[in-house]
Parts: sequence; structure tokens; C-alpha cells
Amino acid sequence: MKKRVLPLARVYRLLEPGPVVLLATTRKGRANVMPMSWHMMVEFEPPLVACVVSDRNYSFQALKTIKECTINIPTVALAKKVVGCGNCSGRTVDKFAAFGLTPRKSSRVAPPLIDECYASLECRVVDTRLVNRYGIFVLQVLRAWHDPSVKRPRTIHHRGFGTFMVAGREIRMASGKP
Ligand SMILES: Cc1cc2nc3c(=O)[nH]c(=O)nc-3n(C[C@H](O)[C@H](O)[C@H](O)COP(=O)(O)O)c2cc1C
Repeated sequence: MKKRVLPLARVYRLLEPGPVVLLATTRKGRANVMPMSWHMMVEFEPPLVACVVSDRNYSFQALKTIKECTINIPTVALAKKVVGCGNCSGRTVDKFAAFGLTPRKSSRVAPPLIDECYASLECRVVDTRLVNRYGIFVLQVLRAWHDPSVKRPRTIHHRGFGTFMVAGREIRMASGKP
């Protein structure tokens, strides 16, 4: 392989961690949503998820204060809405109305589930020790929802600068790992 030096600012594009998700929060009784690609699993059960939310985002203060959110996983069908939600702020825009997203009542937390997403996780913030340093919130998933009819979700994976990779193809290999 003929490798060349890659600018350090582009390293994140190699290690994009997973599907772009929509993080829904509630602040002053109003729901908001932001796309998020920097997240990772840190425990199987109870499921723990670490995610990076910048303090420049309106969602940051909501998550820090209310300590609840939902993580909603869209497919490529929602790509335009997802990017639209990332190009404006809940400070000035009601994104649910602006992008035609449907809020559904969660069972364990205040922020809503997003109906158009094929999976949704109701989460509570359980560890804030890395928030001031890195904007990392550790969330515990309290309840998970999915549409079992979506067999191979065509999730979108952020590769930077408006480029996304679309998932969907599955291969099977012998592996004992869960
Ligand atoms: C594909 C994509 C992925 C993003 N990932 C993150 C992320 O992981 N963390 C973050 O803080 N912001 C991320 N953003 C930026 C926020 O979604 C964006 O700043 C948004 O407008 C914040 O909305 P808010 O001010 O209503 O909270 C991402 C944006 C896009 C389009």
C-alpha cells in the first residue's frame, strides 16, 4: 500500500465510529434534535454509550441540566433532514416542525422518540466526569425500541465535509464474539 501523510485534522474521517444518530433533548419544555456521529458503546449490559456533545451546541446545556435524552437512528431516507438539523440550532429553530420529524412520547425519559427513525434508545446521563474536559457524556440506555421489519438498515456514516457512507450489505464470518 502506497501510504502518504494525512493531515491530522482528517484523522477522524478514518475512524468514524458508527451511524449518524439524532440526539433528542428537552429544554424549557421544548424538544430539540441534533445529529451526532461521535459516539461509542462502552458496556453490553446495562448498555452504556459514550458520546461527545460540544458545548457550542444548544443540546449541550439541555443534556447537562436535564440529564436525559433519546438516541434515534435514521436511515439514508432521512439524510437530508439529518444534515438540515446539523446546519441550524435549537436556539432559534423548532427543528421537529422545520424538518417534519414526529415526536412520540418516551416511556422512561422526557425527550421524545423520533417516529421516522427505525430504532430509538431512551437514555439517562450516568457519568459526567469527562464533560468539562472533552464534552463526553456517558449514557445508560434504559429502554430500546426498534422496527423489526427493517432487516438491513441503510444507516449513514459521516466521512466529513458532507460525505457519507451508506451501510446495508452484510457478510457472515465464523466468530464466537457477541
Ligand atoms: C453528520 C453530523 C455529525 C455531527 N456530529 C456531532 C457530534 O458528534 N457532536 C457534536 O457536538 N456535534 C455534532 N454535529 C454538529 C451538531 O449536530 C450541530 O452543531 C447542530 O446544529 C447542533 O444543534 P443544536 O445547537 O440545536 O444543539 C454533527 C453534525 C452533523 C451534520
